[in-house]
Amino acid sequence: MKPSVLQLNPILIPAINDQLGTLYEVHRFFELADPEAWLRAHGDAIQAVITGGHTGISRALLERLPNLRVVAVNGVGTDAVDLAYCRERGLPVTATLGALTEDVADLALGLLIAACRNLCAGDRFVRDGQWVLHPQPSAIPLARRFSGMRVGIVGMGRVGRAVAVRAAAFGCHIAYTDLRAMDDVAHRFVPDLVELAREVDALVLCAAADRAEGIVDAAVLEALGPRGFLVNVARGRLVDEADLTEALAAGRIAGAGLDVFVDEPHVPEALRRSERVTLQAHRASATWETRTAMGEMVLAGIAQALAGERPAMSLTT
Ligand code: 8YV
Repeated sequence: MKPSVLQLNPILIPAINDQLGTLYEVHRFFELADPEAWLRAHGDAIQAVITGGHTGISRALLERLPNLRVVAVNGVGTDAVDLAYCRERGLPVTATLGALTEDVADLALGLLIAACRNLCAGDRFVRDGQWVLHPQPSAIPLARRFSGMRVGIVGMGRVGRAVAVRAAAFGCHIAYTDLRAMDDVAHRFVPDLVELAREVDALVLCAAADRAEGIVDAAVLEALGPRGFLVNVARGRLVDEADLTEALAAGRIAGAGLDVFVDEPHVPEALRRSERVTLQAHRASATWETRTAMGEMVLAGIAQALAGERPAMSLTT
């Protein structure tokens, strides 16, 4: 009999789904009509869970799966998994470390350039036929130059470093903050986030959310100032969304590029309406290349755990 795997999020790569289906009895939790009844009948049989970084898995659900042998996160963030509890249970939790770095950094730069240059407003202007109605060059306000900007990176892990490489290629001046200065990073470390915000033209959030909830609040946005931009490709909850909405509405910051939100897929209406904001639907890792690499890492992690080995990408065992 094939081992049973509980899948909490869809996987978008057909070849990965094919391999999962060949090797395992895959139960798609998100499609079950009555998950509670299903858990009562089948919870004991589940040996592996696949989930997304944003979705994670609740402790309550973990407790319903007594024979679980691995949680494979199809993502890099593990903030939605109770790692301490998994450690206690000796349960490996794997993540797709390194697989999505380049794509997330690409999108961060894309959002920052889009925000500085008003790319989406410009697209709407042409698409809606406004250019013909308002052909004078002053119909669209001048934008801001991105090249050479002072960029502050919040969280100098894999993604933060990849953002720094890209921003440096645009002649940007880079500084960063993190829980501590990193010996192997040549850029300037600024321990205090408000101080960093005051010194830069753009803040790019690349930090893990487990110890940084709400770090971008009114004080940080005030320090960033009316010519400052905010980009978030990490987690929505790093930002106080109410403070951000207010700061944008009042012009206390210049603009924002956001891929992540506090309560996805719900994005506050004020953000959706703001011309100062460029929005994405949590898409930073959503390329064929990266999602294929991530899926392969999920497959490897499950295979290793079910073979009785420690998964190479385990964060808890
Ligand atoms: C993914 C993410 O969108 O890696 C993460 O932590 O949030 C994203 O890359 C998600 O995990 C896809 O399932």
